[in-house]
Amino acid sequence: MNRQTLEETANAMVAPGRGILAMDESHPTCKRRFDSIGVDCNESSRRAYRGLLITAPGAAEHLSGYILFDETMRQSTDTGNRFADIITAAGSIPGIKVDRGTLDMPLHPEEKYTQGLDGLAERLIEYRDLGARFAKWRSVITIGDGIPTNACIEANMWALAMYASFCQDAGIVPIVEPEVLIDGVHDIETCDFVSRATLSALFSALARQNVHIEGTVLKASMVLSGKDCPDQASDDEIAEKTIDCLRDTVPAALPGVVFLSGGQTALQSTVRLNTMNASGVDLSWRLSFSYGRALQDPALRAWDGKAENGEEAQRQLALRARLNGAATLGEYDPNMEQAA
Ligand code: 13P
Repeated sequence: MNRQTLEETANAMVAPGRGILAMDESHPTCKRRFDSIGVDCNESSRRAYRGLLITAPGAAEHLSGYILFDETMRQSTDTGNRFADIITAAGSIPGIKVDRGTLDMPLHPEEKYTQGLDGLAERLIEYRDLGARFAKWRSVITIGDGIPTNACIEANMWALAMYASFCQDAGIVPIVEPEVLIDGVHDIETCDFVSRATLSALFSALARQNVHIEGTVLKASMVLSGKDCPDQASDDEIAEKTIDCLRDTVPAALPGVVFLSGGQTALQSTVRLNTMNASGVDLSWRLSFSYGRALQDPALRAWDGKAENGEEAQRQLALRARLNGAATLGEYDPNMEQAA
């Protein structure tokens, strides 16, 4: 493991003013997104849409990295330029999702286990040769009646730590993503409790596997009220509870935390990130973004599956990238939404 290379990459991923675009939807997830605009999801439509995102003028300036799906890592533009090479040439970093999705966790109703460790070492070497310098693995923690169980948290955090150790052995920075789902009627205190238990277990597991924390990036969910909770916390409370939770559980040596949007709107995701960074609280790691839907939704709707809408879709992506870039500095202003 070359610690210095890992640290340089991890720091570049959370560079001030920039964040990460998650565009690594599996085929079924991509189909759900495309179904929402009535577009058939196939190799060609995925390549057309994702090619627009990757080549959007003005977006890469605010995007330190792009998380790709296996298929996209192997795709090129019509003129034969590999997507991964375009990302690198624009001064950003190509990354790759390497987990193989979730299974129902045996003997644990309503809970999920993320698979993908078998053969991971070989896959990482191939991805590194294709240009990937970081990877992502997502675990899912569900809040509900009697869940999450310790068994679910421990099994998933162990798998995340094993994945992270395989990544670093291959010279690839691991993004470790334990997503506490927004689904449910729980209040923000419950989310806070579960997030703390999850993150504490994660960092213990990473330490046990000798994972180099300075060469790792955490992808976290914000501390939120459940989607169906009647009492929805304010942006200020979300920002405060999220920062408190992270300060109590995340080692200072970590270069940065990037948030997923996880069902928040594009606007909420930007405002809440900005609130945290504008809070004046002295933080030992950077706070940035690795949004999927919150960056892509406006672009996806503008595109609508039509080539003639491509430029508008690209403008929408560049706008959200710029606004979230500003939010990493605590410099977002709602008037910037109009300035496009
Ligand atoms: P969302 O921002 O849409 O939650 O996606 C981020 C992601 O990559 C989840 O793994």
